[in-house]
Amino acid sequence: MCGIIGYVGNKNAIPILIEGLKKLEYRGYDSAGIAYIKNQKIITKKKKGKIKNLETSLEDDNSNIGIGHTRWATHGKVNVTNCHPHTVGDITLVHNGIIENYEKLKNELLNKGYNFKSDTDSEVAAAYIDYLYKQDKDILKVLNSCKNYFKGSYALGIILHDKDDSLYALRKDSPLIIGISKDGNFIASDMPAILKYTNSYLLLDNDEVAVLTKNNVLVYNNLKPITKKTLTFDYNEEESLKDEYEHYMLKEINEQPKVVKEFITKYIDNKQIDKLPNLKKYNKIDIVACGSAYHAGLIGKYLIEEFGNIEVNVEIASEYRYKKLFIDNKTLVIAISQSGETADTLACVRIAKEYGVDTLGIVNVVASSIAREVDNVIYINAGCEIAVATTKAYLLQVLTLATLAYNLAHDDKQNDFSKLPIILSKLVKQNYYDLAKKIAKQEHIFFIGRNIDYAIALEASLKLKEISYIHSETYAAGELKHGSISLIDKGRIVIAIVTKKSIADKTISNIKEVKARGAYVVLVTLKSLNITSDCYDEIIVIDDICELLVPLITIIPLQILAYEVAKIRGCDIDKPRNLAKSVTVE
Ligand code: AGP
Repeated sequence: MCGIIGYVGNKNAIPILIEGLKKLEYRGYDSAGIAYIKNQKIITKKKKGKIKNLETSLEDDNSNIGIGHTRWATHGKVNVTNCHPHTVGDITLVHNGIIENYEKLKNELLNKGYNFKSDTDSEVAAAYIDYLYKQDKDILKVLNSCKNYFKGSYALGIILHDKDDSLYALRKDSPLIIGISKDGNFIASDMPAILKYTNSYLLLDNDEVAVLTKNNVLVYNNLKPITKKTLTFDYNEEESLKDEYEHYMLKEINEQPKVVKEFITKYIDNKQIDKLPNLKKYNKIDIVACGSAYHAGLIGKYLIEEFGNIEVNVEIASEYRYKKLFIDNKTLVIAISQSGETADTLACVRIAKEYGVDTLGIVNVVASSIAREVDNVIYINAGCEIAVATTKAYLLQVLTLATLAYNLAHDDKQNDFSKLPIILSKLVKQNYYDLAKKIAKQEHIFFIGRNIDYAIALEASLKLKEISYIHSETYAAGELKHGSISLIDKGRIVIAIVTKKSIADKTISNIKEVKARGAYVVLVTLKSLNITSDCYDEIIVIDDICELLVPLITIIPLQILAYEVAKIRGCDIDKPRNLAKSVTVE
């Protein structure tokens, strides 16, 4: 999703804006722009494509105040006209989010003589603020009134050509932080954009307006100045570096043993498991999430039901938020989100709270919107995850859910936690180049699995498709005969995941059905299952571990395979086309 950066201070704003936008690249974008004030005039530079296109277009210039934006297109094509910042009259702004009633506002403004150059909702927001400002030159009052006119989500950074000492910011349901330093103050979509200059920040809440000058930050709620707590962002610099790895994704795959060991040390070895919420008091759990977090939730369902005997319903957040809900005070809603800013998941948290239902977040980014709005949060502490395709955060989401299930079962047969980092350390060093070469040539590829293996297959398929752009689909193995098997033709690669002993035979029957129709079967299974070679063309065998923790090891070869296939295909592994690290719009 879009990235916002703004600065006002003693330094030259232009390099700060460019560096900040580069740190926001991982959020996903297709164009970039900056605007700064010089001699009471707004200078705007915008370019399609990568930030380096913008950077090379800049002449040497100097200004102490400016805003920058990376755009992930929601309204209007990818072109320079639709690029932010947008200037209408006295107002220049950058926007992240969706103004849902922009067409109504646009028509109102067209009738008032406004013209528009772009197709964006953001230009309408600039125009509407300009319209209000023309009627009342009190910019604070005007910005405070935006909540009465704009519907939807927005994080706005605003400058005015004749106020070259002040940067304005406001938000609703779209993330925005305020950075504080001795050399000036910042606005940003998230911390990586400004960590080079400061790790002191404050969080702007919905409907608050911030006024930043080089020496001061004032925050207003309904025009009244309020005090906000200054926070310190804990991070270590090398986390945001690739080190010796060619891609962040490969680095993050290799970090999994370490972050898993840290989690186990904290909750299992140091006996802090009782600090985790005890789910015993609930008779139903609704898990809401998107993408890989949803796949983690599906695994959590199987583990909590199997070992914790509590019914679990897992829903894609964008579906859950619009459906009839059957939740009450004996229901727990668990929101899983790496970024803590996914709009649909955040919306589900708010709906659950309207029902008066307990909410629990399983989140990576500290102090993110979801983390702040749930009743209780478990931080997975995966560290900064830069690659758009999640690996270590997904794994820790699954580990958190497995630990919650273990906390319900207290069955020592399921306590192989101490073995997990060792097995993971071996697995992350494996490679599957020959198989990757075969898969890289495919246009379509299928994954099949049953029960928890189906949930693992969904995540494996998403990893492959999102970074290699191969059309990859997952089918519940038992479902194949109901239509999908018509897609199986000679040489079609089918990756079959079989780890659950009690139903292995069932999936093996399905494997034989696809093999009989010419499929090339790659079997991913556990050593102990000892599956005969007539069931597969290739096999990936994984060391055994207790049933509770099998999903945590099975996914590793499939993450590596996806990475190797994408590399062979020359894809942009860390920043796949069209994707964003955090989907902050619905
Ligand atoms: C996973 O590789 C994707 N990047 C995507 O599906 C992601 O898991 C999803 O957008 C949810 O993001 P969140 O965990 O930050 O809420």
